[in-house]
Amino acid sequence: MRIAFFNAKPYERPFFDRENAGAGHEIQYLEPRLTEETAPLADGISSVCAFVNDSLAAPVLDILAAGGTKLIALRSAGFNNVDLAAADRLGLTVVRVPAYSPYAVAEHAVGLILTLNRKIHRAHNRVRENNFALDGLLGFDLHGRTVGVVGTGKIGEVFARIMHGFGCRLLGFDPFENPECLALGLRYVAFEELLAESDVVSLHCPLTPETRHLIDDAAIARMKPGAMLINTSRGAVIDTQASIRGLKSGRLGYLGLDVYEEEEGVFFRDLSSQVIQDDQLARLMTFPNVIITGHQAFFTEEALTNIAATTLANVSEFERTGECANAVSGARVVG
Ligand code: NAI
Repeated sequence: MRIAFFNAKPYERPFFDRENAGAGHEIQYLEPRLTEETAPLADGISSVCAFVNDSLAAPVLDILAAGGTKLIALRSAGFNNVDLAAADRLGLTVVRVPAYSPYAVAEHAVGLILTLNRKIHRAHNRVRENNFALDGLLGFDLHGRTVGVVGTGKIGEVFARIMHGFGCRLLGFDPFENPECLALGLRYVAFEELLAESDVVSLHCPLTPETRHLIDDAAIARMKPGAMLINTSRGAVIDTQASIRGLKSGRLGYLGLDVYEEEEGVFFRDLSSQVIQDDQLARLMTFPNVIITGHQAFFTEEALTNIAATTLANVSEFERTGECANAVSGARVVG
C-alpha cells in the first residue's frame, strides 16, 4: 500500500525501512507535520501515517478523505488527536499501536522521579563548574513512601512494579482494577484519598473528556504539601496554570513532565535559536523543582522497533482484509 508518512524524523526512518523490507509497502516520507495546509500532500495516497503531534481534526480528515485516503495509521498508542466521529462519518479507518513498550514510558517516569528527588540535573550542572557543595541537594528515600498511580493499565502496571521494587506503598485510581497491581499490594482508593496520601502521584491514564484537567487547583489543594507530580500521559490531564500556582505557593513540591498541554508545534522541534512564545512553558522552565522532557518517554530502541512493526502490520492487515484488530474507529473494505 502507498503510505504518506507525515512528520517523518531521521531517527525513525531506519526502523520503518528495516521492518518494511518484509512488508513491501511504498512509504513516502514527508517532513511536514500533518495540518490542514499539508494534508493535500497525501492526495491520491490511500494510507496516511501520523504521530501524536499531527492534527487529525475534522477539516484535516475532510481533505484526506477527499484525496482518496482510506486508512489513518497512527504510529502511537494515544489517539486523542483524532476526531473519531469525523473519521467515522468519512469512512476512514483509524488504527494505532496499542502497546509497544510500557517499559519505555514507565522507566522514563521513574527517571523523572529520581532526577527531581535527588536533584541530579542540578548536581550535574554544579559539578561541571567545580562546585561540589551539597547545599540544596537534599533528597528523600523512596523506600517506604506512598506512590499514587492514576491509571493502572499497561504502563501504570509496569510503573507500579518498579516502584514496588523500591519498597514503596502503592495506591491506585482507575475505573478498572488490574489484578497484577492488586497482587503487588496496590490498594485502589478514591481519587481524593490517593491525592491526600501520596508523596508521589504519577499519571498513566489516557486523555479523555473525564481526565482533561483532572489535576486542577482543587486536586492540587488536596495533595500532600510538597508532594511530587509526574505526567508521562498527556499534557492536558494537568491544568498547567493550576500547576504553576501550586509551584509558586509551594503546595506542589516537584513537577516532572514529559508531556505538556500546549506541546503541539513546540515539542519534537529544535527551537534553540528562537524565542519561546509560550509564556506558560517559559515560566515552568524557571522553577528549580521542575523537569521537562519533550515527549521522549516512548523513545527507546525496543519501542521504535515495535512501533514500526505494528504500524506496518496494521497497514498490511487493512490492505488484505479491509479491517484491522488495532482499529479505534471504522473497519471498512479498501476501496
Ligand atoms: P492502557 O489503556 O493500558 O491504560 C490506561 C488506563 O487508564 C486503563 O487502565 C484505564 O482504565 C485507565 N483510565 C481511563 N480513564 C481513567 C480515569 N478517568 N481515571 C483513572 N484511570 C483511567 O494505556 P497505556 O498503554 O498504559 O498508556 C497510558 C497513556 O500513556 C496513553 O493513553 C498515552 O496517553 C500515554 N503514553 C505516553 C507516552 C509518552 O511517550 N509520554 C507513550 C505512550 C503512551
